[in-house]
Amino acid sequence: MSASAADWDPRNLPDLHGRTYLVTGSNAGLGFFSSDQLVRAGAHVIMTGRNPNRLAAARAELTAGVPDAAGTVETLLLDTSNLGSVRAAAATVRQRGRLDGLLLNAGVVHPPAQRQTTRDGNELVLATNALGHFALAGALLSTLAARRGRMVWLGSMSTSLWSYDPVDPQLAEGYSAWRAYVQSKVVTTALGLEADRRLRESRVPVTSVVAHPGYSTSGRTRGIRGVNEPSRLGRFADNLQAPITQSKEHGAWPLVRALVDPSVEGGQLWGPSLVVKGSPRQAKPARLIRDPAVAERVWIACENATRLRWPFEAARR
Ligand SMILES: NC(=O)c1ccc[n+]([C@@H]2O[C@H](COP(=O)([O-])OP(=O)(O)OC[C@H]3O[C@@H](n4cnc5c(N)ncnc54)[C@H](OP(=O)(O)O)[C@@H]3O)[C@@H](O)[C@H]2O)c1
Repeated sequence: MSASAADWDPRNLPDLHGRTYLVTGSNAGLGFFSSDQLVRAGAHVIMTGRNPNRLAAARAELTAGVPDAAGTVETLLLDTSNLGSVRAAAATVRQRGRLDGLLLNAGVVHPPAQRQTTRDGNELVLATNALGHFALAGALLSTLAARRGRMVWLGSMSTSLWSYDPVDPQLAEGYSAWRAYVQSKVVTTALGLEADRRLRESRVPVTSVVAHPGYSTSGRTRGIRGVNEPSRLGRFADNLQAPITQSKEHGAWPLVRALVDPSVEGGQLWGPSLVVKGSPRQAKPARLIRDPAVAERVWIACENATRLRWPFEAARR
């Protein structure tokens, strides 16, 4: 099956030999299974995470399962909630010089009940899910442009159900765990769409795409030591939701498709065909996020929070 066929099969991806992808939060969940699918198609993958032990365990499990993968998988420490860590990781990747795609996947999916801030002074969920990725993609823009690369941002179907307008992205007022999560996903989706507009306008040869995995749970995913070890109770609870959930292996399909399918275009959103589960298909972002004025406001808020401007001029080819 070709990469651009209507059906998608991760066992039959385009040949990715000679291509390099960086995945954030790749020691577990969707990031791990996306890395696995990329490596199986021949890609060189930079697995990143904030904890060296979890990262090493995930790399060992991934390479043990894929023949000849040991030389094609490297690890890099990257804590997306910490702008210093993002800068350091981006500098390492720039030195290595080759990057075809970024999967901006890491995320706090169970936010703390009380608002917390990072050492940079930003609200934790926004910082981890959105600001770190904004800073990373900006710092690697020229490296990506050199390979006419692609960046994929992680949205969520929750943004269509609770379309919180991020007028206060840092949630200085009215914090709740759920609001922080959904709002961070409104922000990442808006950033993905706004990045596409700005990249086109600046004629930078980089594509920005958004993807979401539907509802993908650990308890519906095969057990892997150090990577996916749900409790028996967790499996039981997740299995009760089987009709509306899928495994994280399956949830990684639209993410990988958004990253490597040559027929995917900048500014698109990809997700499962049945919204919560199914094969990848193009989807429609929530009305609020499609509003360019909202996306522009979000972009400027992220520039201010990270004190970073993307180097569009320098990245133009
Ligand atoms: N699963 C779903 O149904 C679903 C639905 C919509 C969107 N998403 C999005 O998909 C992404 C992955 O979700 P998931 O279900 O795979 O979650 P997960 O199993 O909890 O994995 C999250 C990953 O992000 C990493 N991470 C968290 N904070 C980090 C930080 N500060 N720096 C670097 N890495 C960090 C975690 O690393 P540690 O092990 O160190 O914590 C882990 O590798 C998230 O952006 C999430 O919002 C998921």
